[in-house]
Amino acid sequence: MEKISEGKTKEVFLLDNDHVLLRFKDSVTAGDGAKTDVIEGKGILNAQTSALIFRLLEREGIETHYVGMKDERTIIAKRLTMVPVEVVLRNFATGSIVKRLPISEDEVFDPPIVEFFLKDDARHDPLLNYHHMRHLKLMNEVEAKEIEEVMIKVNEVLRAIVVRLGLKLYDFKLEFGRRDGRLIVGDEITLDSMRVRDPNTGRIMDKDLYRKGYPLDQVKASYEEFLEKLRSVA
Ligand code: CDP
Repeated sequence: MEKISEGKTKEVFLLDNDHVLLRFKDSVTAGDGAKTDVIEGKGILNAQTSALIFRLLEREGIETHYVGMKDERTIIAKRLTMVPVEVVLRNFATGSIVKRLPISEDEVFDPPIVEFFLKDDARHDPLLNYHHMRHLKLMNEVEAKEIEEVMIKVNEVLRAIVVRLGLKLYDFKLEFGRRDGRLIVGDEITLDSMRVRDPNTGRIMDKDLYRKGYPLDQVKASYEEFLEKLRSVA
């Protein structure tokens, strides 16, 4: 099968004219690829987590690229023309926003804040506004606003699930792709792309464990625990 692209954590194969296979690798990376390791089985955990969340979103009427599973680490997805933009929604402050702006860790965003970043590791994923995105021919303002609405809907579904797990959803990142002139949720939704913590103890469950240098087996155990919890409520 033809490999049409490979990123830091996934390989993409062309299945047929309309579909691709997304094969999740065991790699874990941080700092725009500056730090990288292998966690055996992580690809399976992330493929399963992503598939489960995509199914929940579809159930709530949010269109995603998810079609089904090919094997335990490979998702069958609708073929999209991806927009090289990372869209982040924040409920609570942490990560890049507390470094960039006079905002403190854990500050509440009500309503949530949505941000757009260019996918460009060499430039450390710079922040984009509507003007930048129009000039760079990434998307127009109408599309950006549509995406913001989808982000809000996804947040409602994701936050409800995370609350049911007794956890707190800080933020998450989505990527979108075009298909028949529409924008659809693509890529993945995993602990690599969202931040989830225990509201009482502050315990981190997501990739921040890796970013902060926790042992790899502890990172894996947390991803396993989160997937088990998800399965128990889904
Ligand atoms: O990760 P970092 O602190 O640099 O960036 P952020 O803007 O605070 O990240 C916000 C959310 O987007 C977090 O859930 C990250 O895991 C996610 N993200 C991602 O999935 N991929 C990136 N390249 C950057 C952020």
